[in-house]
Amino acid sequence: MSPQDAPLIDLARRYWLPVYRPRELVLDHGVGARLWDTQGRDYLDFGAGIAVNSLGHQDPDLLAALTAQAHKLWHSSNVFYTEPPLKLARELVEVSGFAERVFLCNSGAEANEAAIKLVRRWAAAQGRDAGRRTIVTFRGSFHGRTLATVTATAQPKYQEGYEPLPGGFRYIEFNDVEALQMAFAHDDVAAVMVEPVQGEGGVRPAAPGFLKQVREQCDRHGALLVLDEIQCGMGRTGTLFAHVQDDVAPDIVTLAKALGAGFPIGAMLAGPKVAQTMQVGAHGSTFGGNPLAAAVARVALAKLGSPAVLLNVERQANELRASLAAIDADLGLFDEVRGRGLMLGAALAAPHRGKAGAILDVAAAHGVLLLQAGPDVLRLLPPLTITDEELAEGLQRLRAAFTDFLATPAGDTP
Ligand SMILES: Cc1ncc(COP(=O)(O)O)c(C=O)c1O
Repeated sequence: MSPQDAPLIDLARRYWLPVYRPRELVLDHGVGARLWDTQGRDYLDFGAGIAVNSLGHQDPDLLAALTAQAHKLWHSSNVFYTEPPLKLARELVEVSGFAERVFLCNSGAEANEAAIKLVRRWAAAQGRDAGRRTIVTFRGSFHGRTLATVTATAQPKYQEGYEPLPGGFRYIEFNDVEALQMAFAHDDVAAVMVEPVQGEGGVRPAAPGFLKQVREQCDRHGALLVLDEIQCGMGRTGTLFAHVQDDVAPDIVTLAKALGAGFPIGAMLAGPKVAQTMQVGAHGSTFGGNPLAAAVARVALAKLGSPAVLLNVERQANELRASLAAIDADLGLFDEVRGRGLMLGAALAAPHRGKAGAILDVAAAHGVLLLQAGPDVLRLLPPLTITDEELAEGLQRLRAAFTDFLATPAGDTP
């Protein structure tokens, strides 16, 4: 930590609910895939605000949309109409290929909360009693931090101490077809909720054909398929919606993160089976569909779905994978590099497991910002618009950082 930053960082220690442990640097501004801290040091951004800043920093079109709307109207609530959320809803329906209706909210957890409520309402409308409205989710999943979404999140570490948790969830192994079949044995499943690529749980893609099996089981047992594309959606894996690559038609899809490309917004997209289930008064949000957020999201959606961005994802993903493989061939740091598109996880080899946090510190000291997915996996989520030069420079710094890490026996920050 630079001594000049100490008074600022002390404010977090003194005033924040101590639920976070940020890296000890204070970011000031960014352009493209590069960020600068308050001391003028620059960093290549390989985390994009946890898959949010997919168009990089200070995208001129986002800036123009935000400032134009800021000069008109900031907020109205849903007791009046404004133009941006109306048009955004239509555009989301049009690009989705399955949805008929959209509910706009402010975050991923809220989008999933809406999806959970919609599933329950749908099941209730079918005359199913509360015992037959179970939602199946997968170990290693992450669906949010509200009480219902943290319960959907099948990872005890996020749930401990928050009991009593809401009922009606069942957890099974990801990518396990047998477990999936067993989950339906009690004839009580209303929905399966799944990330096409698990993010927080270690960057694990659905195995080829697995989501098709989920769809098939859902159809056989009259259950809904809910896809959480909050992290893997909006072009991150090379297609605007990740599930297109799995060739499945969902009933509900949730979005957030890159949908606003840095401005908070979430969305729940509802297909034909559930589009009419919730009627006036069934759900709502003060800020959902806020005109500032929706104006920015319209531009983000158009750009993230453009051939130029999606082609760049493919091109830079190939480069990133090849370079990580080359680095690994020299340094022997990883067990495997997995993921799809620009959503990659480098799983640390046995001697380095548990050191992801230490490696992130060393990387930051070398001018690259990375993320982790648990203690054993480095997570790389650069902006989808990252240029050849930015990627090359970031990889060069990363190689130096990894070399440095290996040279310090305990993996301590140099
Ligand atoms: C797949 C997935 N779902 C839901 C969420 C929760 O989103 P938010 O933090 O915006 O509530 C996240 C956040 O990391 C996520 O990765």
